[in-house]
Amino acid sequence: MSKLVNEASIPALLEEMTPEEKVDFLVGKTAFTTQEMPKYGIPSILYLDGATGVNLLQYVMEMIGEIIPSENNDEYEETEQSSNESGAGAMAYMKYVTTDIPVPDTFNLKEQQLIEALRQRVKELRPNGVEPGCFPPGTLLGATWNPSVVYKVGEAVSREAMAYNVDVLLGTPNTNIHRDPKNGRLFESFSEDPYLSAKLAPVFSKAVQDQGMVADVKHFAANNQETLRQGVDELISERALREIYLPGFEATVKEGNVLSVMSAYNSINGVPCSQNHWLLTEVLKEEWGFEGQVVSDWGGVYDQVAALQAGNDLDMPGPRGKEKLYRAVESGTISLERLDDAVTRTLKVILKTPKFNGKKYPEIDTKLSETAAYNAAAEGITLLKNENVLPLNSGASISLFGKLSNRFIESGSGSAQVDTSRFTSLTTELARYTENICTEEISKDTEFVIITAGASGQEGKDRPDMDFDVEDQKMLEESIRYAKSENKKVILLLNVAGPVELMPYIDSIDALVCMYFPGMEGARAMADILFGKISPSGKLPITFPKTYRQTPTAINFPGEYGKVNYGEGIFVGYRYYDYKGFEPLYPFGFGLSFSKFSIPKIELTEKSYDSRSENPLRVKVEIKNEGLIEAKEVVQLYIHSDNSTLLKPEKELKGFKKVSLLPGESIIVTIELFPKDFASYDTQHKDWTVEPGNYEILVGRSSRQIDKTISVEITGPNPYGCSLNSTIEFIEKHECAVEVCKEVLGNYFDEERLKNNVIYFGSTPLKVYLEKTIPKVNEEEWERLLHLLEQKLVQCDVKK
Ligand code: BGC
Repeated sequence: MSKLVNEASIPALLEEMTPEEKVDFLVGKTAFTTQEMPKYGIPSILYLDGATGVNLLQYVMEMIGEIIPSENNDEYEETEQSSNESGAGAMAYMKYVTTDIPVPDTFNLKEQQLIEALRQRVKELRPNGVEPGCFPPGTLLGATWNPSVVYKVGEAVSREAMAYNVDVLLGTPNTNIHRDPKNGRLFESFSEDPYLSAKLAPVFSKAVQDQGMVADVKHFAANNQETLRQGVDELISERALREIYLPGFEATVKEGNVLSVMSAYNSINGVPCSQNHWLLTEVLKEEWGFEGQVVSDWGGVYDQVAALQAGNDLDMPGPRGKEKLYRAVESGTISLERLDDAVTRTLKVILKTPKFNGKKYPEIDTKLSETAAYNAAAEGITLLKNENVLPLNSGASISLFGKLSNRFIESGSGSAQVDTSRFTSLTTELARYTENICTEEISKDTEFVIITAGASGQEGKDRPDMDFDVEDQKMLEESIRYAKSENKKVILLLNVAGPVELMPYIDSIDALVCMYFPGMEGARAMADILFGKISPSGKLPITFPKTYRQTPTAINFPGEYGKVNYGEGIFVGYRYYDYKGFEPLYPFGFGLSFSKFSIPKIELTEKSYDSRSENPLRVKVEIKNEGLIEAKEVVQLYIHSDNSTLLKPEKELKGFKKVSLLPGESIIVTIELFPKDFASYDTQHKDWTVEPGNYEILVGRSSRQIDKTISVEITGPNPYGCSLNSTIEFIEKHECAVEVCKEVLGNYFDEERLKNNVIYFGSTPLKVYLEKTIPKVNEEEWERLLHLLEQKLVQCDVKK
């Protein structure tokens, strides 16, 4: 009997395993584990969330399954509903299971015994008694604009998860795009911008895997809403998929070498992602060369046979019926080749797991975790308004409002939730700077009123509106009124899943700081920023609109009757506000500092750049700290195309760098651009195209604060030059093209007639026009003429 040892041992295993065993291996054993096969040396592997810390709730669900094994009936179909129900049971126990709070007798005796047993197991599970840490979720990480900070979070979370025996850490990262602010899971992912996402996502996966853990990127693809999350069908153009929704995943596969990709719940253009051959096989595996495993989202396989055929390798969770799969393999509906491919990919993942390699961090390095979480919060917290209020002086007299001052929302709920008592509290952290703190009242010496208001984010449910949570909205209104009646300065801290409606309050607020969901060290970082120990350097990874109705998706979210039209196409986030000429409240990339910066100079290594170049075009940007304190700033580079055939956004982020500068210091930052940065995806060409012409390189400190602009001439072949697909209007405008038509088609071509037709039918492609207007000639001759024509037309060097 062969055993799993390394990659070379896989072919022999494939020979020996029966088709049934292979199927058994590709369907989960329990809610979060896979089937072990001891005779082949294959262990059972634990898949658990996630990027914000170890999800103990999921662990407890697993434990409940061990204590009360469900009947392992092969016809049993695990649905999301049933796994959610057991999740709901576990949720009710969590408060007691993770603490020593006495179990109330509202639970029946059996439940009380179960809770005690779970409590014992959780205690035994904790490495040296340490609870999991809660790390900042994606949006705060996006706001750092700093890959090295993100790496450190990935490293710390991976080590903690290894100490908790996790093998595949789910959602590391979630790189879905912020399409609509009301998405319940918005907080989990980085940004509305694909470039920023694609720069951070692979770093997270790499950090996780560098520790010896398997990373998993989710949810592939375009998982952008929670309403009807399992059934929704999204109608998305291929251009929007390629330019907006896929780049984060592509980079995580190609640069992050992520080993596991989670297929999403939603459908794209009529096909569920887990059953989408184009997405999973043609794009992910064939085009991008992904060699790892596709695991379904939990309960996201709706048709097991279709999913395996399409390229989904592992179906989670289990147990669930395998009969259909046995039959499909037997009848050849699923080929042995596909089955072996899925097994091979899953085995390759197992080979890299901590369990297989006997790797474990026996303890949690709390210092390492806290430093990583702190640095992320310190660099992500974003200052949005400051009317000479911040930083505060030590000893300032402050009054705190809002229950969140005691404990922030550190992460959202669902798979990103972390049950832990490792946290920092604003009330306590501020006490490091001042003794003059009162809460929920204004004393006679109060100078500043600090209000923390929240908008929670939750898996399974979209936000009903873009407002604060109801209770906090009331508190916010009342405390602002109170503060103003007492003539106090108001500092509002946003502890929010995403953008909130701020217009009703904005004029009454003297300072505004957004912390998103900042993880366990959020309060410490916030206190250090408020009192100026560090200067804020976070930048919005998502536009804050003035009102929800201003957003690009307001008329297309969350869809109707199970369908959502992605009518905004590629115009997601700032691409939309820019194009429509709308003034958002705070633009993408915006964030204030306690210092002042300038960008005195920008230079290009070349004045022109060929679209076939393998070497980069280098943009050198000088940035100077003009202020009196050390601070960090983000140099942001956007590209604008002057005159493109395809409709393009006004500008697109194509480079950024965060720098730290001493007072008066200046440095030169070099940003490299490649041909792809000038490209768009053309659905006709089925490829990325770079059109020659003039482009502007815009450098600044937000998408709306551009300090310097420089032009570059892009040279190279013109995908939009003359061809048989050109419109007759275009052909008529280009003398060379008309001459070529005359030369090749001779008497068949009537220039006068072409001119007349241009008036009413100018947008007709040349080929279609010729076929309509030229009398039938023999087919072979016609093909020859067309071929010759195309060859000569593309040689016309067309300048617009
Ligand atoms: C979520 C995933 C998560 C999985 C396992 C699903 O409901 O959509 O993000 O990783 O559960 O917990």
